[in-house]
Amino acid sequence: MRKKVVVGNWKMNKTKQEAVQLTTDVLDMLNNTGSIACDVVFAPPFPFMDSINDLISAKNGMFLAAQDCSKHEKGSFTGEVSAKITQSMGANYIIIGHSERRAFFKEDNATLIEKITRCTAAQLVPIFCCGEEAADRESGKHLEVIEQQISEVLLCFSAQELNNVIIAYEPVWSIGTGNTASPEIAQEMHQFIRSIIEKKFGEEFANNTSILYGGSCNAANSKELFSKPDIDGGLIGGASLVAQDFVSIIRNCAN
Ligand code: 13P
Repeated sequence: MRKKVVVGNWKMNKTKQEAVQLTTDVLDMLNNTGSIACDVVFAPPFPFMDSINDLISAKNGMFLAAQDCSKHEKGSFTGEVSAKITQSMGANYIIIGHSERRAFFKEDNATLIEKITRCTAAQLVPIFCCGEEAADRESGKHLEVIEQQISEVLLCFSAQELNNVIIAYEPVWSIGTGNTASPEIAQEMHQFIRSIIEKKFGEEFANNTSILYGGSCNAANSKELFSKPDIDGGLIGGASLVAQDFVSIIRNCAN
């Protein structure tokens, strides 16, 4: 059966000292709880990956993600970080297609396909993000938009290449706005996403694919969101920057 997963996407936040402190606090709080029945993934900025990996690599159920990777394999691309480099830093996952990358860095589907190709070639698992804009939902096109985002990128790969892929549904209108999708809206979309995956890869693959919700998910609303049958955890932004909040979300997922 599919895994429950909580991912903390720190985006471009924290200094190195703050990042180490945050991780140490999260680990201390979780240690007091005994074993945790969900996977916890930390996605710090690239320069902190090594330090965070040192703190979590020996812990059960704790994993490291890169927030992005270059679409190139290697070479003269100043400032870029390859999937293989992140793998050598201890990454298990790479977040691909976050709406901020799509919007601010103009990442299109062709770029996302190249990034997933680099990711899987480095033996890493993509956390593939999709999500509609407010206008798409207002015009009733939200299902169509998500189907397009998934079919034009993820469905270009084989089941073998996408083994263990994680999908994150992050409606753009809910990211950083405090405007969380209702559990019903999120569940409807997660079920829809699972049905798209099932059509292409079959029931077993779909049932084993973790689909996370992201967008103003916090300590107060995560329990209800995670209680829905197709919501397998969360991709957390702001609330992952506060140890107590992140730990509460992890507990809500593990229960
Ligand atoms: P917030 O939780 O801050 O809304 O961000 C969600 C997100 O974009 C995680 O990738």
